[in-house]
Amino acid sequence: MSKILVIGSSGQIGIDLVLELRRIHGQENVIATDIKEHCPPLIKNGPFYQLDILDKEKVLNLVQEENISEVYLLAALLSAIAEQKPHAAWKLNMDGLFNILELAKDGLLKKIFWPSSIAVFGSNSPKTNTPQHTIMEPSTIYGISKLAGERWCEYYHEKYGVDVRSIRYPGLISYKSKPGGGTTDYAIEIFEKSINKEPFSCFLSKDTVLPMMYMDDAIRATIEIMEAPPEKIKIRSSYNVAGISFTPEQIAKGIEDENGPLIISYNPDFRQEIANSWPDSIDDNHAQNDWNWNANFDLNKIIFEMLKGMS
Ligand code: NAD
Ligand code: SER
Repeated sequence: MSKILVIGSSGQIGIDLVLELRRIHGQENVIATDIKEHCPPLIKNGPFYQLDILDKEKVLNLVQEENISEVYLLAALLSAIAEQKPHAAWKLNMDGLFNILELAKDGLLKKIFWPSSIAVFGSNSPKTNTPQHTIMEPSTIYGISKLAGERWCEYYHEKYGVDVRSIRYPGLISYKSKPGGGTTDYAIEIFEKSINKEPFSCFLSKDTVLPMMYMDDAIRATIEIMEAPPEKIKIRSSYNVAGISFTPEQIAKGIEDENGPLIISYNPDFRQEIANSWPDSIDDNHAQNDWNWNANFDLNKIIFEMLKGMS
């Protein structure tokens, strides 16, 4: 039987995704891999290997030895870290993708999932209900790498028939694994501080609106786009998907209503500029129409689940 490979499985999305894929396909059929040596305890219920996506030969060997047919490629440097290490981010975010696209082009993989981000948009994109097709001039190295990746995905699909599917995740909120260094990470740290009754210094201003999504919705979107019949996937660069939008002040108020007072100060740093260049909200009509996408979690539901999950 062919198997599924998750690359970058120890990160924020990877843990939730591996758990859900194993629930659907069986523990032995979903192979988790990460550059980090040790398998996170939550995903010890199935196979795990240390793997560097940039080690092309090792990736090829694993795909052949384990009879892999589908890859979820999650290894990347996120927006804030990428600004600190632009060349390393470009190398990982682009060469990692090429290594997987090439395996599919050579007929070794049937399907690929590769995530893009709202970071593909820039200051010249419409800020509200940012459409699927619009001006895209990202100003971060992360956004530039994601936009270039989207173009390559579409190119490999058009030229070589590679079945690659992608969504532009908003900022993701979850508790099973720590976030990996993005601009939206404040919306997770705030829960930790509230639960531990510690003061919270927010690195974005209180009125910064960003598109966000609860992890359960993001995992469902990922699996739904991968399970959709190929003819339904009309966009082979990457789909907009929307969850909700809120500011630090709004999420802080919601958390206070549930969990008591929070001592919060707003101290914007370099991430403010990144956030300012991103949309406030996303129009995901194409995902809704093409493969029936719809988010389930609003802010109250997210706050409830996060406080319950982290306590
Ligand atoms: P993360 O940083 O939490 O996890 C990435 C994982 O990749 C880490 O476990 C890391 O050890 C691993 N990794 C790094 N270099 C590697 C290498 N050379 N080989 C193999 N593994 C390596 O990131 P995440 O939040 O889980 O994001 C996964 C993907 O989703 C990324 O492409 C990211 O750009 C995208 N995305 C995430 C969000 C979000 O809010 N989390 C939003 C938009 C898009
Ligand atoms: N959450 C991600 C980040 O902030 C968006 O891609 O980098």
